[in-house]
Amino acid sequence: MIMRTTIKLLLASTAALLLAACEKPPIAVSQTGFRGTGMEQVYNPRTLATQASLNKAPEVSAAVEDVPGGPKAGAIYQNVKVLGDLSVGEFARTMSAITEWVAPQQGCNYCHVAGNFADDSVYTKVVARKMLQMTQKVNSGWKQHVAETGVTCYTCHRGNNIPKEIWFAPQPQKSAGGSLGNDFGQNRAAKSVGLSSLPYDPFTPYFLDNKPIRVNGNQALAMTGAAANRSSIKQAEHTYGTMIHWSEALGVNCTYCHNTQAFAEWGANATPQRATAWYGIRMARELNNEYMVPLTSVFPANRLGPTGDVAKANCATCHQGAYKPLYGAAMAKHYPAMYAPVKAPDAPAALPVADAGQAVPVAGKVEVSAK
Ligand code: HEC
Ligand code: HEC
Ligand code: HEC
Ligand code: HEC
Repeated sequence: MIMRTTIKLLLASTAALLLAACEKPPIAVSQTGFRGTGMEQVYNPRTLATQASLNKAPEVSAAVEDVPGGPKAGAIYQNVKVLGDLSVGEFARTMSAITEWVAPQQGCNYCHVAGNFADDSVYTKVVARKMLQMTQKVNSGWKQHVAETGVTCYTCHRGNNIPKEIWFAPQPQKSAGGSLGNDFGQNRAAKSVGLSSLPYDPFTPYFLDNKPIRVNGNQALAMTGAAANRSSIKQAEHTYGTMIHWSEALGVNCTYCHNTQAFAEWGANATPQRATAWYGIRMARELNNEYMVPLTSVFPANRLGPTGDVAKANCATCHQGAYKPLYGAAMAKHYPAMYAPVKAPDAPAALPVADAGQAVPVAGKVEVSAK
C-alpha cells in the first residue's frame, strides 16, 4: 500500500515536472515567409510581455551645449587616448553615461583612482578603454549587422559590471584512459544548446575559431572529386548546436532565417535576416579575437574561465532574447563617443581589420557628431 502511494506520488510529481516544461496557452503564430513554406514564428504573448519589459532602453541623458571652438578633451586632460576629439562637455557626459551603463552602484571609482582620473592603475579602466574602441568598431565598421541602431555599453552590460550573457571554453573532460569517462564534448543536456545532447561548446569553433558552419552537400551523389562533401555528421551536430544558440539568443524559431526544407539555401528560400546573421557571426568572432582575447592578461584571475580564458561574447551578449537588442531602440546615435574615429590628435589608433580570407566589411559612414 505504502509502495503504491509512493509510486502514485512519484508519477504525479513526474507529470507535474513534464507539464512545467509546457507553456500555458495562448500561443500565437505569425507568418514570416511565403505562404506554404511553414516559415512562421510561434510565440507566447505572455512571455513576450515579460521579455519586452526586460529589454527596455534607458533614457538618453540631456545633450550638452557645444561651445563652438571650445577646448577638446584631448587638450585639457592628460591621459585620453580614444575620446580626445570630444568637447569637454561631451566627454563629461560620456563618463556619466558609461558609469550608469556599467557601474551604477560603484560610480566613477569603479574605474578611477580617487583624486587622479589620469591614472591607469585600476584594470577596469584599461578594459573600459578597449571596450570604447570595440563599441566604436561595431558601430562604424559593422553597419551590415547593426545598421543605424548600433550598440552602446548598455546593450551588453545593462547596468552590470559583467554582462549577463558571456561564455568561457568548458573544462575538458578528464578521460580515465581510452574512451571510458570521456563524453567527447557532448551528451550532457547542456543549457548552451537548449538542453539537447548536442556538442555543448557551440561557441569555440565559430565565435573564436573560424570552423565551417556549412555542412550540407550541394551536389547530388557527389562522393568523389571536387564536389564531394567531406563534412562529418559530428560537424553537422556542431552546426545544429550553434544554430540552437542563435535561435535562443534572438528568441526566434529556425524559420526566422531558414526555410527548413532547404537550410543551405539563400535567396527566396531564406529571409533577409539570414544575411544579417551571416555578418553577425563574423562580427562576434572579430570582437572576441581583436578585443576580448588581447585583454586576457589585464583581467584578474578570478574573472577568467576554468581554462584561463577571458570572458567572450556570443549572440546573446547583445541580443538577450530579442530579435534586435533592446527591440531596436537606437541609443548609440545620441552618444558621439560610440562612433569612430573619436581619438586624440596624436594617437595612431588604427582600427583592426578582419582576418585575411574573411569578408572584410566596408567601413560604414562615420558619424562623429551626428545627433
Ligand atoms: C567604466 C569605466 C569608467 C567609469 C565608471 C568612469 N570612467 Fe572616466 N575614464 C575611463 C576611461 C577608459 C578613460 C580614458 C578615456 C580615453 O583614453 O579616451 C577615462 C578618463 C577620464 C578622465 C580624463 C582624465 C585624464 O586626465 O586623462 C576624467 C576627468 C574622467 N574619466 C572622469 C570620470 C568621472 C567624473 C566619472 C564618474 C562620473 C568617470 N570618469 C567614470 C573610464 C571610466
Ligand atoms: C559586445 C558586448 C559588450 C559591449 C558593447 C561592451 N562590453 Fe564591456 N564587457 C563585455 C564582456 C564580454 C566583458 C568581460 C566580462 C568580464 O569582466 O568577465 C566586459 C567587461 C567589461 C569591464 C570589466 C568589468 C569587470 O568588473 O571585470 C568593463 C569596465 C567594461 N566591460 C566596460 C565597458 C564600457 C565602458 C563599454 C562601452 C564603451 C562596454 N564595456 C561595452 C562585453 C561588452
Ligand atoms: C538568425 C538567423 C538564423 C537562425 C535563427 C538559424 N539559422 Fe541556421 N544558419 C544561419 C546562417 C547565416 C547560416 C550560414 C552561416 C555561415 O555561412 O557562416 C546558417 C547555417 C545553417 C546550416 C548549414 C547549412 C549549410 O549550408 O550547410 C544548418 C543545417 C542550419 N543553419 C540549421 C538551423 C537550425 C536547425 C536552426 C534552428 C535551431 C537554425 N539554423 C536557426 C542563420 C540562422
Ligand atoms: C555587438 C552586439 C551584437 C552581437 C554580438 C550580435 N548582434 Fe545581431 N544585432 C545587433 C543589433 C544592434 C541589431 C539591430 C540592427 C537593426 O536595427 O537593423 C541586430 C540585428 C540582428 C538581426 C536582424 C533582426 C531583424 O529582424 O531584422 C539578426 C538576424 C541578428 N542580429 C542575428 C545575430 C546573430 C545570429 C548573432 C550571433 C552570431 C548576433 N546577431 C550577434 C547587435 C548584435
